[in-house]
Amino acid sequence: MLDATILATLARLEEEDREERDAGLPPERRSRQVAHSTGRFLFALAAAQAGIEVLEIGGSRGYSSIWLAAGARVLGGRLVSLEHDPEKCAAWRANVAEAGLEEWAELVEGNAFETLERTQDVFDLVFLDAEKDDYEALFALARPLLEPGALVVADNVLSHSETLTAYSAARQADPTLSSVTVPLDRGLELSVVLAEFAS
Ligand SMILES: C[S@@+](CC[C@H](N)C(=O)[O-])C[C@H]1O[C@@H](n2cnc3c(N)ncnc32)[C@H](O)[C@@H]1O
Repeated sequence: MLDATILATLARLEEEDREERDAGLPPERRSRQVAHSTGRFLFALAAAQAGIEVLEIGGSRGYSSIWLAAGARVLGGRLVSLEHDPEKCAAWRANVAEAGLEEWAELVEGNAFETLERTQDVFDLVFLDAEKDDYEALFALARPLLEPGALVVADNVLSHSETLTAYSAARQADPTLSSVTVPLDRGLELSVVLAEFAS
């Protein structure tokens, strides 16, 4: 559920993000968090499946992680979030704890490329929100971890169309997926896995 504790933490993070944007902080010093309505969308996807295993690539200070973990909690699932910036990781831990979601969310600190190369876990929902130039390579590492029925959501495909139009086109041309660009906020590419990965 989206209880008062979670909503209060999300509201504080939204206010801090507004303040940092108004102060003109460069992107690398901000959380670069998703919009509120994208957070609600992620919550809905995570809440839709019992025991869902969610993977987030690019956790930052935990704003989208809180939406995903709150969704996963509804039917007993969990979130694994990947983040390499130590300051963001410290903020992530504090924010997820403040939201009361520690039991449903785990942070793996380090380079997502290395983490994905060594994991053999299987995921039902992947949220891809790291550096835009890395989406293709990160998707390639995540794809073997997905079985038919799994969903992949990639953020910023409209706001960063110069880089990510190719990502969307590749997913839409892949016969093992069905993929559509959802024009919500900065643009989400939503892909469902239809067939096992063949290497
Ligand atoms: C757009 S922000 C994520 C925002 C977050 N999803 C939210 O909505 O609150 C991207 C994050 O990905 C992290 N990141 C980028 N490349 C990474 C990598 N190779 N491994 C781990 N984290 C990475 C950055 O440090 C940054 O915090």
